[in-house]
Formats: sequence, structure tokens, C-alpha cells
Amino acid sequence: MNYKDFYTKSIHHPEEFWADQANAIEWYNKPETILSKDENGYPLWYKDGELNVCYLALDKHIQNGFGDQVALIYDSPVTQTVKKYTFSEVKIEVAKLAGGMQSLGLKKGDNAVIYMPMIPQAAFAMLACARIGVTHSVVFGGFAPHELAIRIDDCKPRVIITASSGIEIDRLIAYKPLVDEAIELASHRPKKVIVFNRKLGARVPFKKYDVDYDALVYGSEETACVPVNATHPLYILYTSGTTGKPKGVVRDTGGCAVALKFSMTHIYNVKQDEVFWAASDVGWVVGHSFIVYGPLINRNTTIIFEGKPIRTPDSSTFWRIIAEHKVNAMFTAPTAIRAIKKEDPNGDFIKQYDLSSLKTQFLAGERCDVATLEWYSAHIPVPAIDHWWQTESGWPMIANMMGVEQLPVKPGSVGKAVCGYDIKIFGEDGTELGPNEEGYVVLKLPLPPGTLLDLWNDNPRFKAGYLDKFPGYYFSGDGGFKDNEDYIFITGRVDDVINVAGHRLSTAEMEEIVASHSSVAECAVIGINDALKGQIPLALVVTKLNQNIEHFQLQQEVIKLVRQKIGAVASLRNVVLVERLPKTRSGKILRKLMRSIADGDDFQIPSTIDDENIVGEIDTVLKKYEIGIYNKKQE
Ligand code: COA
Ligand code: AMP
Repeated sequence: MNYKDFYTKSIHHPEEFWADQANAIEWYNKPETILSKDENGYPLWYKDGELNVCYLALDKHIQNGFGDQVALIYDSPVTQTVKKYTFSEVKIEVAKLAGGMQSLGLKKGDNAVIYMPMIPQAAFAMLACARIGVTHSVVFGGFAPHELAIRIDDCKPRVIITASSGIEIDRLIAYKPLVDEAIELASHRPKKVIVFNRKLGARVPFKKYDVDYDALVYGSEETACVPVNATHPLYILYTSGTTGKPKGVVRDTGGCAVALKFSMTHIYNVKQDEVFWAASDVGWVVGHSFIVYGPLINRNTTIIFEGKPIRTPDSSTFWRIIAEHKVNAMFTAPTAIRAIKKEDPNGDFIKQYDLSSLKTQFLAGERCDVATLEWYSAHIPVPAIDHWWQTESGWPMIANMMGVEQLPVKPGSVGKAVCGYDIKIFGEDGTELGPNEEGYVVLKLPLPPGTLLDLWNDNPRFKAGYLDKFPGYYFSGDGGFKDNEDYIFITGRVDDVINVAGHRLSTAEMEEIVASHSSVAECAVIGINDALKGQIPLALVVTKLNQNIEHFQLQQEVIKLVRQKIGAVASLRNVVLVERLPKTRSGKILRKLMRSIADGDDFQIPSTIDDENIVGEIDTVLKKYEIGIYNKKQE
């Protein structure tokens, strides 16, 4: 198949194209209306279709005679466990859990929050929700109770499903007390908390609302899949935006199932019964699309990995897993490769494993620097494919569609537009820019199936954030350019979102927290380049008059505050004191200018700046604290 023709068809004849793709999955009621509009005029896919994603992921394969195929491998170096589950085994557990949830009163239209580490029960919980039409919202386990509480109040779950604990390299994290604290902080009260007790020694305080996961599963009958409408929300996934409040991306069911099946075959090029491994977390969109739903719908074996690329126990872990489980295609974030490269620069561990099963390495989640791509390619002789997408899109928007036609890789580029995505580069005034001109990355509506339907409870924010800037187009929040062969290069976010070790975080949210410290008069948090994590946050703080607080003390207190409110995953370690922040004459903080100074990029001082001397002042402070370009570790 030829990429150019296939792509062109998807753009010029979207209804025909996506009607064909809808045939690749099974429906209770096949959609007759392929593309229509909702009451706000936003495109809707397959509105009269009926299906169930849990059926597609499990029951269908069993009915087709593949019940004994391994569906899921749990590989946990932190607990030294490898456990395999067949499709039949997963189906029994999921159907019983779903039956148990029904006995607790859950039904189609309810919401459930899932707050779990990387264990099979997290996937079982997601699938059990999907089985009975309950919309799940998985919250990343690295988020603190305050963040969990914000999400509880927004999506008002009837239950929370959690585990007793997670393991982070060197420590046991007791999840249950965090959930209890979040419930205390939230205004909404879930009816029940289903707790999977891992019996690893964590404190599991008992509350009246607790239900034991094992008792619920074993005491319940299997329940059947409940058909849902294609536009029924399969899940809500919160992601960072440009304010302190996260955005609840709503994913439909029909579009998601079609798009994920399409991605597995046409982008990732995996055949049914091959092994696909996305080394991410169920708390992120990668986990939803390519640890749980995509591979299982495509009848692939998926891997739930509870560990890190390094230190669990060392930087050989990825290669061991590929060799041991005969992984055919893998997905990770470039930061994981950078971490491995740092520990094992000559790839000595790589040589010790038979990686012959691996056909392709996919990379995404953050910008992939050329040095990382080249290091990978020098050590592992399979295509390393960078590709670009977001929580909002739910599946890749720019890639090298390996199942269609493998195009030459251009290091630094994320590839070409994926079928269904009409991508353009716009200037500030909404005119399309020419080759190699950098601007905003936008996508012409309609977006293809499986992309966000709305923001939960916040359609005005959905419109304001994505649709109003360039009418008729979806604004991605990223900057970039196309070259004269239509390869696209992403240059980074153009808003206050940063990407720390592949984790999407909001600097605006961090700013709100830093500003709440009693000694802080004003502050700015910016993302600066980091050799390992891609970006890390830096807080620049002006203290209140007559505050006699030492830098060291303030730094420790601010770091603690951010860890308490957001979680350790925020990775804020650098807090510097400045006399004042650079501002325009109208008082707007010039964050981009500070980023350029810290990263050592060329910049022009904006003509609207209040006082040009501030540039030298910021530079002096960064030098003093060895931050950004002055960070000796980065050189
Ligand atoms: N629960 C609790 N804490 C968590 C957590 C979780 N699920 N995930 C991360 N944290 C904590 C870590 O323990 C660490 O705490 P510390 O500051 O006390 O050490 C902090 O959050 C930062 O974590 P992380 O960003 O993972 O940094 P790290 O130094 O532990 O590991 C890497 C660095 C590069 C190895 C790691 O970030 C990594 O594997 N990145 C790949 C990320 C990825 O796959 N992202 C998915 C996008 S596709
Ligand atoms: P998330 O919603 O957490 O998946 O984060 C999405 C953001 O990550 C995008 O808007 C980009 O800024 C960034 N991103 C994801 N993949 C890539 C990539 N391959 N190259 C550059 N940036 C990326």
C-alpha cells in the first residue's frame, strides 16, 4: 500500500475511509451514520453504532478460539514477579469484577476513578468498567492526594478502585492512605473504595466505605458485556492545561475502538498474536491506548511493566524483557533511552540479549533529540520511529505509518501526517506558513475518530482552548514546521505546559502552589532543558519585603509544598531567588525570555520590556546557582 494515496483518500473521503475502517471491528449495531455533528456543531463519529470495548478486547477472541493465547504478561522487577494471563483468565476475572461492581450498584452512565500502580488489576479494573458501561478515569499513581481530590470533585465517581501499595525503586508507597486523604480533601464522596491488597506490608487503614477487591471478585458471578452507544464516554483522562485545573479529556467508545485497531495495524504494524510492549503507565494516555485497549483489541499480548528502565535492577531491564517475552514492537519515551544510555553508554548490556524478535522501536511523549535516536540506532538494528500525539488525540497524529509504507526516517522529524489528520502550520494571524517556516501546529476539522469528544463538564474551555483560536481548526498547543517533503518537525509547546521525563505538567499549576508559600511575593515557573528528563521546572521567586528567609530554607519548603500538592513526579528541584521578574510595561511576566536565557538560546529582548537590565540580572542568578546552561552536569 502506498502512504500518499492512502493518506489522500483519508483526507478527501473521510466518511468512506472511516466506514471501511469501522468494518475491522465488531459492532452489536453497525453504524449507518459515519460522520455527523453534535449539538454544538462538533464532529461526531459513528453516532448510531453500538458496541462494547471489553467484548472486543476479550470475549471476541475467546469466541474465535484464542482463549488460551496469553493476553497479558505482568513483569515486575520490583517485586521479582513474572505472571502470564490468557484471554480466558483475564475475561473471567474482569467479568466477575464487573459483576461485583454491579452488585455495588454501578451501572452504565456512572463514573469510577482508578488509582493504581502498574499491576494487572489496573487493566482489569479498566476493562470491568468498560464491560458494564461505567466511564473510568485513571489517575496516575504518582499524583498526590490534592491532585486526586481535584479529579474526584470534577468527575464525581461512584467508586474508586485502588491498591494497597505501589513500589518506586527504593520505597513502598502506601496508596490507601493517599486515597483516604483525597476523599477527605474532596467535596464529593464516592460510595465505595475497592481495594486490591497486594500484601507487601503497606499500611492499609480500614474505612467503612472499603470493599476488598479479591472478596468482591471471588464472591461475584461473571456478568455479560453491556452494549453502549458509540459516543458513550469510555473514559475521562485528565491532563495538564494552562491553568491550575486539569482538563478532563473525554474519549468516545466507537471512534476509540476503530482508531486503536487502525493504529495497531497501520501505524505499529503488529500482527494478531504478536507481543506489543508500551513501557508507560496506565495513568497516561499511552497506557490507555497501547498498554490496555489497542493491543487487546488487536489480539496482541501486552506487557504490564512495573519498573523503570534503570535501577530495577539496572539498565538491562528493557533488553531482558524484549528477549524473555519475545517482544515484536516496543514503545517508550526518549527519556528512558537517555537514562539507559547514561548508565550503559557502550550498550554492553544490549549485547547480552537476543533481541531478534524486535521489529520496530517507537518513541514518543516528548521531543526525541537526534543524539538519542542515533545512539539507539547504533546499538539496535531496527527502525527507531519517533511519532507525535497527545492525550487529546488518543492515538498518533504524525508518524511513519509502518503498516502502510515505511518512509525514510529523517532524524529530528516526527514523520508525516497520519491518515485522518490534515495538519497545517499557521502563523499568529491564521495564515498557512510555507516550508520550513515555524508556527502553530493545527489540524483541520473534523479530527478523525477516537480523538477527544469534549472536556468533561467544561465545553466552554474545550472551545476556548482548542477551537476558537483558529476557527475550523484544532489548535494542538505545539509549535513546529514542515519541510518541503511534508516531514513535520515539532519544536515544543507554545503554552505553559512542560514535559518532564515524558510526563505532561502545568507550570501554571506549579506557580499557583509556589505562590501560596507565605514568604513568596511573586514567582514564575518555567520549563528548562535537561539532558536526562528533556525538561525540568525552574521556579524563580521574589520574596516579600522584610522576609529573612535563607535561600536554602525557602527552596526546601517550596520543593516540599510542590511534592505534597502535585506529587514527586513534578520533579521541581531548582528554586532561585531573584530581585524581580522580567515584565512588559503592562506587567506581563516574560517567561519565554527567561527560558531562552536559561537554555542559552538566541533571543530578542521584546520591545515592550519594562527594563532591559533584567536580562543580565537573571543571567547572573542562573550562573550563581549553576542552572540551565550553567549546569555543569549537563556539559
Ligand atoms: N508513584 C509514586 N511516585 C512516583 C511515580 C508513581 N507512579 N512515578 C514517579 N514517581 C516519583 C519518583 O519516585 C521520583 O521521586 P523522587 O523525586 O523522590 O526520586 C519522582 O516521582 C520523579 O520520577 P521520574 O520522573 O520517573 O524520575 P526518576 O528519576 O525516578 O526516573 C526516568 C527517571 C527517566 C528513568 C523515568 O522518568 C522514566 O522511566 N521515564 C520514562 C517515562 C515514561 O515512560 N513516560 C510515559 C510517557 S510515554
Ligand atoms: P501527552 O498529552 O501527555 O501525551 O503530551 C502531549 C505533548 O507531548 C504534545 O503536545 C507534545 O508537546 C509532546 N510530545 C509528544 N510526543 C512528542 C514527540 N514525538 N515529539 C515532540 N513532542 C512530543
